[in-house]
Amino acid sequence: MAGMKPRVFSAMQPTSDSLQLGNYLGALVEWVKLQDTHDAIYGVVDLHALTVSPKPEVLRERTRRTAAQFLAAGVDPSRSAVFVQSHVHEHAELAWLLSTFTGFGEAARMTQFKDKSGALGESGTNVGLFTYPVLMAADILLYDTNVVPVGEDQRQHLELSRDLAERLNTRLGEGAVVVPEPHIVKETAKIYDLQEPDKKMSKSFSSPKGLIEILDDPKKVAKNIKSAATDSDTVIAFDRENKAGISNLLTIYSALTGRAVEDIVAEYEGKMYGHLKVDLADVVVEYLTPVHDRAMDWIESPDALDEVLADGAAKVQSIARETLARLYDRVGLVAPRPRS
Ligand code: TYM
Repeated sequence: MAGMKPRVFSAMQPTSDSLQLGNYLGALVEWVKLQDTHDAIYGVVDLHALTVSPKPEVLRERTRRTAAQFLAAGVDPSRSAVFVQSHVHEHAELAWLLSTFTGFGEAARMTQFKDKSGALGESGTNVGLFTYPVLMAADILLYDTNVVPVGEDQRQHLELSRDLAERLNTRLGEGAVVVPEPHIVKETAKIYDLQEPDKKMSKSFSSPKGLIEILDDPKKVAKNIKSAATDSDTVIAFDRENKAGISNLLTIYSALTGRAVEDIVAEYEGKMYGHLKVDLADVVVEYLTPVHDRAMDWIESPDALDEVLADGAAKVQSIARETLARLYDRVGLVAPRPRS
């Protein structure tokens, strides 16, 4: 892992059987690109997923499925470390340390916490949901991360990570941790729900018809695109304010084909929304089919997958150990003496 390349770290929660297109275009596509130029570490954050109280067997299955989809998307385990968060116990330990540097009000201001706890009510909200962004900061700071590729919805959490990093450097001395930079690609930072195009596409909140799931049956993917909500107008144009549905479809089209939105708009001049949807359904299915097939191959080879994950944890372990030891020392914890 050593080298002069800047480090990239990012992660996803194993909270569903399949990733959705927002995870893919907002983050995973960038992960794959960044592994060419960066020292890359990508995690399945199973400890974060505990905040939604999953069934044990479901969590185990989804952890492997999530890792399988990273690999299927092009994350290459010979160049990147792919690992499971709970395999590296320093994440939880650093989260505790960071929680003592985090203000209560600061954590309470996180909009994702406010949204989730608002929906669940006080009795349904666990403390893990509240400290979730602190564990996320620990994930990032543990590896002296320079760059964090994520979608727009993680921006505020990343700001907290940066604030904590700066605070640690002020209080514990320069060089305590690296201050991470967000990597958020404007065009694909937020992919919207197909049925409610003013809301983000989301594993937990979208209805089945609002989602494009990577591991779904291609026929269902195509059907969802063809029945995407649009507006009562007929002109195909990019206008996020007034044509949220069509703009979202154009964004997806552009991201998957690499063509500029203006090009696509010009091609469909005078055509109906239906034409665009039918063609986009083909584009999406063609794009996702090989990803789907590769993911299923990994899912059907759990031993090989577990080996990749064990290798990944082994690669990152020493970095995590060093960072935690450095910080434990700087805050004044007595290091255990090696036994003779
Ligand atoms: P998670 O698992 O909800 O989502 C994984 C990634 O997908 C992005 N994303 C989207 N991007 C564009 N449009 C969408 N509709 C969309 N939906 C999701 C997310 O922004 C994210 O990049 N807290 C994180 C997981 C995490 C993490 C970390 C990320 C834990 N520790 C450290 C980076 C670094 C989360 O819940 O992502």
